[in-house]
Formats: sequence, structure tokens, C-alpha cells
Amino acid sequence: MPETDETNSTLIFFVNGKKVVEPCVDPEWTLLYYLRNILRLTGTKLGCGEGGCGACTVMISKYNHTSDSLRHYSVNACLTPVASVHGQAVTTVEGIGSTKTRLHVVQERIAKAHGSQCGFCTPGMVMSMYTLLRNNPLPSMAQVEEYFAGNLCRCTGYRPIIDGVRGLTFDGQKGGCGKLDCCKLRNSIQHGATNGVSVDVMNGTSSKDEPSTTYEETDISHALHVESEFRIYDPSQEVIFPPELKVHQELHTQFLVFKGPRVTYYRPSSLKQLLDLKAVHDDAKIIVGNTEVGVEVRFKNQLYPVLINSTKVSEITSVTMKDSGIEFGASCTLTSIEEILQDVVKNHPDHRTRVFTAILEMLKWFSGKQIRNCAAIGGNIMTGSPISDLNPLLMAAEATLTLCSKERGERQVVMNHRFFTGYRKNIVLPDEILLSVHIPYTQEDEYLYGYKQARRRDDDIAIVNAGMRVIFEAKSTVVKRIVLAFGGMAPTTVMALNTMKELIGKQWNSSLLETGTSLILKDLPLPPSAPGGMIEYRRALSVSFFFKFYMTVRGGLNQRFPDLVDPLTEEEQRAIQVHEYRPPKSSLLYQKVPSGQTSLDPIGRPMTHTSALKQATGEAIYVDDMPHFENELYAGFVYSNRAHAKIISIDETDALLMDGVEGFFCARDLPGERNKIGVEIHDEEIFASEKVICVGQLIGMVVAKNKPLAKRAAKQVKVQYEDIKPLIITTQDAIREKSYYGQWTIHKGDAELALQNSPHILEGEIHLGGQEHFYMETSSHLAVPKGESGEMEIFSTTQHPSLTQNFVAKALDVPANRIICRVKRIGGGFGGKTSRVLGVSIPLCVAASVLNRPVRKMLDRDEDMQMTGGRHPFLGRWRVGFTREGFITSLQVDLYANGGCTLDLTAAVVEKAMFAVDNVYKCENVLVKGFACRTNLPSNTAFRGFGVPQGTYICEDIITRLSAFLKMDTNVVREKNMYMTGDKTHYNQIIERCTVRRCWDEVLEQADYTSRKSAADKFNKENKYRKRGLSAVPIKYGIGFTKAVLNQAGALVHVYTDGSVLLTHGGTEMGQGLHTKMIQVASRVLKIPVDRIHISETSSDTVPNTSPSAASASSDINGMAVLNACEILLQRLEPIIAKNPKGSWEDWIKDAYINRISLSAAGFHKTPDMMTFDFDTQTGRPFNYYSFGAAVTEVEIDCLTGDHSLLRTDIVMDVGESLNPAVDIGQIEGAFIQGVGLLTLEELCYSPEGVLLTRGPSTYKIPGFQDIPREFNVSLLRGAPNPRAVFSSKAVGEPPLLLAASAFYAIKEAIAAVRKEAGLSPVFRLDTPATAERIRMACEDFLTEKIESSEPGSFVPWCVKV
Ligand SMILES: Cc1cc2nc3c(=O)[nH]c(=O)nc-3n(C[C@H](O)[C@H](O)[C@H](O)COP(=O)(O)OP(=O)(O)OC[C@H]3O[C@@H](n4cnc5c(N)ncnc54)[C@H](O)[C@@H]3O)c2cc1C
Ligand code: FES
Ligand code: FES
Repeated sequence: MPETDETNSTLIFFVNGKKVVEPCVDPEWTLLYYLRNILRLTGTKLGCGEGGCGACTVMISKYNHTSDSLRHYSVNACLTPVASVHGQAVTTVEGIGSTKTRLHVVQERIAKAHGSQCGFCTPGMVMSMYTLLRNNPLPSMAQVEEYFAGNLCRCTGYRPIIDGVRGLTFDGQKGGCGKLDCCKLRNSIQHGATNGVSVDVMNGTSSKDEPSTTYEETDISHALHVESEFRIYDPSQEVIFPPELKVHQELHTQFLVFKGPRVTYYRPSSLKQLLDLKAVHDDAKIIVGNTEVGVEVRFKNQLYPVLINSTKVSEITSVTMKDSGIEFGASCTLTSIEEILQDVVKNHPDHRTRVFTAILEMLKWFSGKQIRNCAAIGGNIMTGSPISDLNPLLMAAEATLTLCSKERGERQVVMNHRFFTGYRKNIVLPDEILLSVHIPYTQEDEYLYGYKQARRRDDDIAIVNAGMRVIFEAKSTVVKRIVLAFGGMAPTTVMALNTMKELIGKQWNSSLLETGTSLILKDLPLPPSAPGGMIEYRRALSVSFFFKFYMTVRGGLNQRFPDLVDPLTEEEQRAIQVHEYRPPKSSLLYQKVPSGQTSLDPIGRPMTHTSALKQATGEAIYVDDMPHFENELYAGFVYSNRAHAKIISIDETDALLMDGVEGFFCARDLPGERNKIGVEIHDEEIFASEKVICVGQLIGMVVAKNKPLAKRAAKQVKVQYEDIKPLIITTQDAIREKSYYGQWTIHKGDAELALQNSPHILEGEIHLGGQEHFYMETSSHLAVPKGESGEMEIFSTTQHPSLTQNFVAKALDVPANRIICRVKRIGGGFGGKTSRVLGVSIPLCVAASVLNRPVRKMLDRDEDMQMTGGRHPFLGRWRVGFTREGFITSLQVDLYANGGCTLDLTAAVVEKAMFAVDNVYKCENVLVKGFACRTNLPSNTAFRGFGVPQGTYICEDIITRLSAFLKMDTNVVREKNMYMTGDKTHYNQIIERCTVRRCWDEVLEQADYTSRKSAADKFNKENKYRKRGLSAVPIKYGIGFTKAVLNQAGALVHVYTDGSVLLTHGGTEMGQGLHTKMIQVASRVLKIPVDRIHISETSSDTVPNTSPSAASASSDINGMAVLNACEILLQRLEPIIAKNPKGSWEDWIKDAYINRISLSAAGFHKTPDMMTFDFDTQTGRPFNYYSFGAAVTEVEIDCLTGDHSLLRTDIVMDVGESLNPAVDIGQIEGAFIQGVGLLTLEELCYSPEGVLLTRGPSTYKIPGFQDIPREFNVSLLRGAPNPRAVFSSKAVGEPPLLLAASAFYAIKEAIAAVRKEAGLSPVFRLDTPATAERIRMACEDFLTEKIESSEPGSFVPWCVKV
């Protein structure tokens, strides 16, 4: 292609109002890479690199010269090629406000409404909302959720983010949001009887020492922020679009050529240029959104040497309205199509636009806003993904495609069953391009609907989708033509051709339905090993969709021919209802500080997270945001791709030959014990030496001058293996092979004898799936050698700096005093960064030490997910004896945890699960056995709850099945067996100050449980295809490290001569608000304002020998250490203060300095009365105290698809006297939603060979905005001071996660209602997570009974339950 005069090869664009001129742009650079690494704007974060998390959201503004209009789009910078922003203006979080100048209202609101915990998602959230406001200064709540659909947050549970921005919406301003609608709560402030009353204060002064059971309305608060303090949004204050971009029209018409080392990027501006290019480069990729190509390049290692951006070719971006339909240029973005279709649908009769309505409905669930803003219809068609959302609809509509090549000109093809020829293949020839798509209008006798079922409703790819269209003979109900297209049922979008043929000429009645479903099942068989798994479910969906289609069309026909076709019954109408948007509501309730508490004293007040504002402006620094050192290197890891194999050879030659590669490291560099790590025993190798024991194990590491090179070089390292038997992947495999790290028993009474004597015995089994931490910031580290005495500084995302320090010292063979581990903040940890970070940080230190150069690495999301393990999957087998009245007489539970390939923390996790099998129920005869299974999976590890969720859920499984057996209300069974103060657990710890009954009674009242239960029963009687379930679950959680030694903490307080205080303690800040609480503690003790106190970081050179920030105990132990340090200081200051009682803090500090009084104090705390449990003697006191809570959740399920919605959740949680209600409520909501993910959405799929198949947000679904309960009410139990923790507070990080059981068992209730109607057993097994698949398949009906299942063992499944 000859380059013309107008050819330009310099990239020009604006970032935050500043012009960027880049003469040497590499087309492989994404916008995110450019912002972070070249412009050093690190506010925009990398969370996944695949468009699935929204952390990288920025705004792109485009000026349209033709219409003289400006539009703003939120996009994922991680998928946007920087080359594509030529002539456009990019706005990042840094460009809209800062703490140094002025905050933008969005930043201020999200931060001050407590919508930022770890903060890693916050810049992306801010930019999504900001873009919405730029397009619509007064949006609706529905639009807010639409813009947020592509943003994930793992910490907050979304409620505070929604509440923060609600005031900027139309709904919020007219007050119709339901917020603070807590009349019920206000009416329910009288408590039931309390179980625990006596309180002896030993933990610092309490604001209220005695528990109280009655409250005045004035004692309680419903708000965590003051709405009236927020500034009003003023659109006129926004930065203007750079005039230069308006004036220089040529920026938009230039033919661009950007040549990089491996890839050339063209942006033609005419169709001729485009066709000429395609004629020369027939392997070129045409890119618009780059949302497919970007993912292929990054995750499938594809290299496309020629990229052609087609967005400036008018013929391919235009829209033509024709009499027959609408012709969309192939490069029209989905957002632009959405906008046009909304208009068309509004202005045409319904029957004409049925296809467009179906497309609009489908686009609602098509990815997130950021993707739709840049992805094009042509990309969706041409990629030919078998689960494309548009292709089934376009095929059903028989859209016509115009293809075009330089040589042969245009040709038209219809999108029918001949268009796709194989997996991601179609009939378009290599030199052709897709020019346009013509979508015809529908006629009066024609109906077209689309269907999609995904793991998560919002922003998820389909499991199965469909487009179905029927045309009737004129004015009749006889089928003239029917087109049924399905995605997810074959390697391409397919049609049920035989069904389509057989149904012609048939009346639209129940016999057609019957024939149609049987034929579809024959037309769309799925082999049992088909990729994607879920075989029976996918087949069930294909016919369930047809059933819905049949019903919907019948409804339409009834309106036209009421005499011929019966109307739909109400329940049939509900069966076909599309998901209805319900604006989120919430209410909060907590106890205000006593009226006498000084305004200076922050304890008990909803103080904002100390970093929130910096997080919302992008100023907060995470490890990968740290400035680069001049000679810094980046690490690329070489992982095992076998689960159990001998390493025959490692060949790094090719990698080392690459220019810029500086070294290769493997087990040869770490002889003997230096290569070993492990928390309890040193059974893990840093680099695999002789054999590999899981896929994803580290074998070697390349260090190179930058990240892309390091990644490419790592792929050049060749490893030869020889497989070893046996391969143990699942827990069942481990049980079969007796592959255990250890087994333990707890017993109380005589469980066997009691069982034999029990009037009833039930036994069962439940499998609880694992969970990926999915912290938003992946494991990130920077090792900086100091160049002398073996000193090394490591900046790390570790929750356990001392552990990192010790193992780095061991690997480098130096004393621990040479290693400093520093942690400023962590973008979420949830336990996953306690021990599993060692395998990432230590290799960096080794390379840094050998090469004497800093080495950095931030794991990519897929690496992190494959390498670092997660929550242990558990298998629980149980037997329970009970009386007719529902009293439990004997409980026997065997717990098997899939620990993976090294012990890590599995023994401790199993132990905690064993302690938790009683949940809140008393039983005199208990036998619990725990087994830690050794398998060839990546080592599973600590995860919020640490075994307690698994123990608790198994217990609740027993309760629900027992109740179903007795046909007794589960609540009655729960209440009969519930613990009281003074009861003893099965491990003989006395339960003191038991508040579970109070939480329970309060939550039932708050939730209006009894009347809503009746309403749900009534709903279920009236609805066959939708059912509701309501479940209340109480919980107990033992607080403290079960290993007594860990219950200690240190703090260091320095006061400088200006009176400012630098506080350090042993805990790390990972979003949980620990630093905020510690500052509050210091402020109360020192009686100085919080803004005089600063925490800079956690480091091993300030507070040594720290315990991990884990076990929910960080505030308890570090808070007491801070209190201790501050009290020591105060004691020293006493004589000074006595001399000058009216002086200020600053006066006293100056005097103290002059009098040579030390202004630095170390504090220490060890939790009294704790004793590690001894399995031999069955003695110990593993917990400091217990936390209690209760929740009620109501769900609705779609019995035909398995889809579910959380309608409402009410929580009452005992957090003692809250140190900070905003932080505590944030923890409750965040933990609850994480638990909801665990129990309903998040499913890890492993291949039978041990490969994790779900390695990113596209396949592994954590809850999004739409997955939170539409009404979410949280109350903190009042009048429950806890003498065993600082200022009478209680731990909160983990316990509320257990409350998600209420959502799971509500789903089970709803399924039970279906099964009851169908005459099936009410006692049934439901494993976790209750995914759409499990829900649908448990709702057995006339459709599922037609589906045969393959005999297990007769085929190799795509994935296995581990
Ligand atoms: C996070 C995320 C979520 C997603 N969610 C969904 C979803 O819910 N449903 C769904 O169906 N898809 C989804 N996708 C897939 C993807 O976004 C869509 O397929 C999108 O429509 C692709 O458009 P694009 O412009 O980005 O394609 P690009 O990546 O730019 O191009 C894709 C392919 O199409 C070819 N191509 C593009 N235009 C032409 C043309 N005119 N002529 C010839 N070839 C052409 C390119 O050569 C390339 O091979 C998702 C992707 C991501 C990353
Ligand atoms: S980093 Fe871009 S969407 Fe996750
Ligand atoms: S605050 Fe959202 S991910 Fe941590």
C-alpha cells in the first residue's frame, strides 16, 4: 500500500487536557500500558487485562465534525490500543480532581460514602460514573447501574458506592430511592431477652460499659454520611474538550500508519484504502473495539502482524434506513446501535420492530457499558464465537450481510446455517471484508424473541442463547416458517434444522410444543465431553427457551385471535416475563455515640477510610504504581503445565538469546533448604526441582528489561516432562488413594451410642465448592537490593510481612535483620496474600540479589488465579440423630478438605471447620473427623472465614434436611437447638455473652419474616415457573488465632516535636479499614484529633515479628497494642501535663522534648486466656470470644432457566461496640456479598488433568452490582459491649460471610417448593455454589425428564468437581 501525502505516523491525542505527541508508537501498546508506563499516570489500574473488571476505565471524548457534537464513552483502557485514540481526548481519574486541588463530586461522594475500601476498583468506578454524568448530568438509578455493570468491586458489596452516587441521580434527588426507609427498623428497637449481660471492662475505657436493652430513637443513627455536605454537581465546571481536536479535522481523516517492531497498524480513511490493504494483507485483522483481538493477543498468544482500524471509513460505519429494514455498517458500535434502535422502536408499531426489541433486550445483557461503547457488530459476527449473543438473533432474523473485496466487489449472503463453517470460521473469504448488516423489519404475522442464560446476569457471556422466529400463514395460527438458532450448543451458532422443517404447517398449540421440544433435543445433541461442560443443563436450556418462546408467541396470538388461542394464565405470563429492573434500596442502623462523648473522640463514629480520597483520585500508591528504578528488571514466570510429572529437562537457551533478557533462575540457583518454604512445614519448593506437583507450579523465571519481553521470553523456555502416576485431582481421588496430610478428631459424649438411641437418623453428603480470592490487585512485588551486607528491601502485597521477611532471609541465606518488608496498602487480600505471595516475592528477591538490580512483578490475573490457590473445596459426610420434636441428639461429621499439593494452612483450615460444625446449635454427642487431602492442585490456602464457612454450611445443610424430613419449620428446629450463654461447644469452650438469640429475634422482626414467609408461600402457590424462598440463618464465629502464639501484636508510636504522630502497628491495610480504626484508637487515647496522626506503612523494621493480618483479629490485637503504646506515652507526659494543664498537645510535646522525655513508645499486646486446642487431650481455649449474627434473605428463582435474584436481605450483626460503624457495616456488606458469590455464582472449573479452566473474570464470575439484594438492610446489634477487645468492640472481617448461607438456603427453599409441587422428595442434596445450572436441574420437570444423562465413568468430562 503506497503511503500518500496525507499519511501520518505520529500519534496525537490529549490526556487530561494535555497534548500527547508520540512519534514512535508501538501498535502493541494498549492505552493502559501507555498511561501507566509512559505517561506515569498510575491512577488507572490493571485488574484483569481482558475487559472484565473495569479497573482500567477511562473516558474517551470524540468530536463529530459532521454533526458538530461531542460524545463521551467509558472504555477499558486495557483493551483499547493506544494507536486507536488518535485525534481523541482521554480523561483519566487524575484529570477530574485531586486532593491537592479540588475533588470531583463523584470522587468525593464515593469516598465519603465509604464506597472505597481497598480502593483498587475505585478509579474505574469513578470514571464510569463520571462518564455517565458527562453524557447526562441527571441520570436515573437504572442508568447508573447500566454504566457500572462493567465494574467489579470485591470489597464493598456495592451498596455504599450506589448510596454515594444516588444523590446525583434523578431518583435520588426526588427522594424516591427507598433509602432510609426504615420505619420497620425504627419500630423494632425493643430487644428480646439478652443472653449475656455481665461485663467487666479490661480493654480500655468503654463509651458504654453496661449492656442496654432499650433505646430511644435518638440513640440510633441510620446514616453513615451526611448527604447535605456534598457539593452539587455543576456540569459547567467540567474541563472543556481540547479546541485543537475540533479545529484539526485532518486528525480524523488522515491515513495512519504506525509501525512497531512486530506489528503495523493502519487506519484507512476510505473504503478503497481499506480494500486495497485487505487485498495486500489478507491475514490482516480489522479492528474496531479490539475486544476480541485484544483478548486473543493477550491470552491466546496470537500475533497479528497487520491491524487495520476501520472506524474512519464512512461506508462501514454508516446506518441506512430502508423500507425493508435497517442496514448497519459493520463497524457500528453496539452502543450506537442501541441508541438507534431505541429510537426506531419508539417510532414504529410494535410488530414491525420485534427483531429490534429482541436485539435491545439482548444488548442489555451483552458485556458491560465499556465494551459496548467500542465493540462493533461486525466484530461479533466475524469472530463467530459459538456463544455470540447477536448471531442467534441475526440468524433467526435472516439478516443479510454485504461482503466486499477489491477484486470481486460486493456480494450479499444471508446469515443462515451455511454462514458458519466451523469453530470461529465462516464463509467470508480472506480478502473480503464485512461491509454491512441488513436487519429486516418483522411483519404482523411474525414473532421474534431472544434468550440468554449466563452464569451472572450482567456482563457475562452466555451458557446458551437463542434467537427464535416464527412466521404464520396470513391471519392464522399455522406455522408458515420457523427459524430456531442457538448459541452454546455446538462449536458454532447452530439451527435446529429438522425441528424447523417438521413444525411447518403445524398449529401453534401444546402438541407443537411437545413435538418441538423432542425434536430440538434430537437436533442439538451435546456429547458428554463437550467443551464448556454442563451438558444436561445446556440441553435443558435449549428446550426451556423454546417453551418460553412458545408461551410468548401464544400470548401474542391470543391478542390477535382471542377466539382461537387461549389467553396466558397469570403464572404463564410470569414464566415469560423478562427480568425486571428493580432500583436498589437499603437501610442501615447503628448505635450513636453517647451524648457526652466529645466531638474530638472518633471512636464509634463513621469516620471515612483514611485513604479513601486518595484512592478515589488515583493518588493512592499500590506496589505496581511505584516509580521505576533506572536499572529495574521485570520477571516472567515459567509454570508447569503438568499436574504431576518428573522434570526431564529445562532449556532456557532461546530465552537468554533474546535481546534485553538479563537472566534465568530456577531450582539450580537455590540449593537445598533455601528452595523450601511453608507455613507449618517446609514442604513447598520455590522453584520445582525434580518434579512438578500441580499445574501452575513455578519452574523458572526469566528477568528482562520490561514486562512484555519478560513474558515473551518465559514462553521460550522449554521444559520436558514425564508424567507420574497417580494423578490426584479431586477430593474423591484423594479419599480413594488415602492421600492425606493428616487427620484429626474432636469428640464429645458418645456420638455413636446416641445415634443408635435416636428416634430418627439421617445421613447425607454435601460438596462445597472452592473460591478464588479475586482481590482486585493481583500479587505484586518489587525487590530492591541495597547492594551491601546482603540487605534487601521488598515492597509487597503481603498480609504477613514477617513471614515474607523470614523466608526471603532464608532463601538469600542472610539473617532476617537484613531484610525489610514494606506494605503501604494492598488492593484486597481476603487471606490469599498471607502465604501464597511467598512463591512470587522470593524469586524476585533471589534475582535482585544475584543481579544487584531491582526486580518487579505483578501477576497477570490468569497467572494469579492459576498459581495461588483459593478457598478449600470441602466434602462433608454426616449422620445426625434427632428426636421427633427436632432436638439434635447426635452429630457425626467427616470433613474432607482439598488442600492441594502442599500443606500450607490446610491443617489449620480443617481444624477451624471442625470447630464450626455446630454453628449455633447445642449437641451433647458429637464426633467430628477432619481430613486434609493432598492432591495435585495448586495449594489451597487461607480465605476469609478460614474453614468456618464450610463447617457452618455443612451444619446448616443438616438442619435444613432434618427439618424437611420432620416437615417442621427450619426456624423452629434452629430455635430449639440454639446455644445460650454458658453452654459448652463440642470442643469444650464455654460460650460467654451469647447474643445469637437477640440477633435472631431482631432480624426476624426487622425482616417481617412471618408475614413475608406467608406471602412467599402464597406466591409459590400461584406460580408454577417462578418460586420464592425465604431463609433465616443464625451464625457464630470464634474470634482469634487458634494457634495461641499468633495472638500477639506490637505497635510503635512516634511523636514529633510539632506534635504530629506517626503510628505503626503490625497489621496491614488491605481495605478493611484497619489503619483508620488504629488512628481512631490512638486519637481517643492521646486525645488529639485524628488528622494529627498518620500511618505511612507497615514494615518489618518498625514493628517486628508480626502476626498476619488475618483471623479477623487485627483490630483486636493491634488495637490493644496501639492503646498500650499510647498509654505509655501519656504516662510519660503526665508530669508535663500536670505542670501545664491548660496547655495544648503541641505545648506538652515541646516541653517533653526539652525535658528529654522519650517521645517514642512501643506497645505490645498478647490476648489472655487463649490456648491452642490439643487433639490428644481434647482441651484448649482456641477462641478469645464469639461473634454472632443472623440474616434473612428472600430469593426468586426462574424454574425454567435456573436464574435467580436476591430480593431482600436483612442482617443483624453483633460487632460489640463498633469502633467505626461505617467500616463495620462495610465489612458486613462486603463479606456477605463475597459469601453470596461463594454460594451462588463462583465456580472454579478444573479439567480432569488439573488445569484451571476459569482463569479470569470472563469465566469466573464474582458478584456484580446487579447481584446484590435489591433491598439490603443492615443493623448493628445495640447494647452488646465486648470486654475482650479494644474499647468493647468485636471483630467483623470474616463472620458476616457466613450469613450468605441465608441466600443459599433461600434458594433451596424455593427449589423445595417446586419439588413439592412435582411430588418429589423434600429432602434433597444441593451442593454449592447454587449456580443457575444446579438450580435448574434440581427443579425437575417435564422438560428435564426428556434429557438422558450419560453414565458417569463412560466419558471424560470437560471439568471435574474438585
Ligand atoms: C469483557 C468482554 C465481554 C464480552 N461480552 C460479550 C457478550 O456478552 N456477548 C457477546 O456476544 N460477546 C461478548 N464479548 C465479545 C466481543 O466484545 C464482541 O464479539 C464484539 O462485538 C467484538 O467487536 P470488536 O469491534 O471489539 O471486535 P474486534 O476485536 O475489533 O474484531 C474481532 C474480529 O472481527 C474481525 N472483523 C471486525 N470487523 C470486520 C469487518 N468489517 N470485516 C471483516 N472482519 C472484521 C476482526 O478481524 C477480528 O477477527 C465480550 C468481550 C469482552 C472482552
Ligand atoms: S483491567 Fe481492564 S477491565 Fe480489568
Ligand atoms: S474497594 Fe472495590 S475492590 Fe476493593
